[in-house]
Amino acid sequence: MTRRLDVKIVLMLLFTALVPLSVSVYLVAEAVNTSLDVGLNEEIAGQIERGVDIHRKYIEEVKEKQRARLEHIVDSAALHQAASTSQEEKVKEVLEGFLSGDDAIRSIRLSGPDGRAVKVEAVDDPSAAPVRTLTRNAEVNIGPYTSAEMVFGIKASIIDGFAKAGQDMITYKALASAPPAYLNRRVIFVYLILLAVIVAGSITGGVFWTRRLVRRIHRLSEATTAVAHGDMSVRVDPGGGDEVGALVESFNGMVAELSVSRTRIEYLQKISAWQEMARRLAHEIKNPLTPIHLAAQQLREKYQQGDPEFERLLDQSTEIIEEEVATLRRLTSDFSSFARLPEVKPEIMNLQDFLEECESSLSHISELGDVAMVWEIPSEPIPVSIDRMMLKRVIDNLTRNAAEALVNADVLEPQIRIHASKREQSKHPEVMIRVEDNGPGIMPEHHPSIFDPYFTTKTEGTGLGLAISKKIVLEHGGRIWIDEASKNGAIFVVVLPMRD
Ligand SMILES: Nc1ncnc2c1ncn2[C@@H]1O[C@H](COP(=O)(O)OP(=O)(O)OP(=O)(O)O)[C@@H](O)[C@H]1O
Ligand SMILES: [Mg+2]
Repeated sequence: MTRRLDVKIVLMLLFTALVPLSVSVYLVAEAVNTSLDVGLNEEIAGQIERGVDIHRKYIEEVKEKQRARLEHIVDSAALHQAASTSQEEKVKEVLEGFLSGDDAIRSIRLSGPDGRAVKVEAVDDPSAAPVRTLTRNAEVNIGPYTSAEMVFGIKASIIDGFAKAGQDMITYKALASAPPAYLNRRVIFVYLILLAVIVAGSITGGVFWTRRLVRRIHRLSEATTAVAHGDMSVRVDPGGGDEVGALVESFNGMVAELSVSRTRIEYLQKISAWQEMARRLAHEIKNPLTPIHLAAQQLREKYQQGDPEFERLLDQSTEIIEEEVATLRRLTSDFSSFARLPEVKPEIMNLQDFLEECESSLSHISELGDVAMVWEIPSEPIPVSIDRMMLKRVIDNLTRNAAEALVNADVLEPQIRIHASKREQSKHPEVMIRVEDNGPGIMPEHHPSIFDPYFTTKTEGTGLGLAISKKIVLEHGGRIWIDEASKNGAIFVVVLPMRD
């Protein structure tokens, strides 16, 4: 089950990722084709070419002007005259004149074969726009000088713009000559890589996420199997506040309720088996009792005179027989009343009224052993659905047991406290009745069997009081237990559901 569920979820994730991606690969391939068709056309090619041409022509023109300028300078009469004087200073002066008259000239240099040279340079203006330089050379015959070199400045943006336009042109030509299928293949390749990354991501993420989820569901399924096999102690960790967590919480709650009701059913089944046995036992004992009783009476009546010793023995024996028969009678009557416990017929009434009724009708219990009875009845009305005769038997049994325990105990101020209140901490509204005494308490080893029929520590007891009480409480949909935390005396707790 585990394997199939996580595989299914991962496949589902993959499918949801792949479908839109495949569609988008197709669309992108189409879009690239279309945009290439639109972009790579004659008109745009022409535009770019014209742009490059304009740049080129402009630069040619500039170069032409520079050449003319150079010729003008080296042919100038002033320069030739100055050179003929062989005075370098004069030559420099003339060159300075040309330099200051034209912004574009950065430097002029004349040199001769004998190594002599004269050079003038323009001063750099840091605030001016950046420039690139172009150098022009010419062979001359000016006095001792045979070559001239002039450096011109040209705005950097013009040269750079030309370079950029040329580069664009190359790129565009390469693009136009490349077959569109090749470009298309590249786009699809990039897309396929993207696809592979997404597939790998969704598988990893999907496996991680589903593992967690499936593990939780698997635990729940195992717990369900355990419950089906009768193990009511299983509880599953919700592991989160999501829907699965909520499912687990409600599963836990259900198992808890199931476990309580199963214990209740088991107890009631056990009691009914004991009741059946009590009924048979009572029947079997009761039948021979009457003939035994009659026989003993007859024996005494029939004996008129005789041996006084025999008469004394006879009196003693018949007395014992009658006493024992009476005990057996009481026992059978208890047994049969246990066997024929009436059905619980609940009706809605106020717990306050019920307890006040108990207080007045059970007052004689305090006389059993000079015990003080303290009734702590809630002041507000609390509606409960109870069979008041049967529930009174429960209170009677519990208080009677407490009084019986106190009679033989060496307690300074024997007391039975009956306390009733709402029980707020439970899920459904409930009421709680506590019967506490300050007697000897119950030995821990007796706790597990105290509600079993016929469990008693008293010579005169039948051990049915608590069994009957528990049966009645369970049939009211309630619970009864011994408060284990009690340090002094015994505490019995009865919890009953509250009514709206
Ligand atoms: N308040 C208590 N203090 C100490 N022991 C108790 C108390 N209540 C019950 N028990 C113990 O639980 C046993 C079972 O009580 P239960 O009422 O079922 O039978 P019983 O009192 O012995 O007999 P019956 O109720 O038929 O007279 C008692 O014998 C007694 O040992
Ligand atoms: Mg009792």
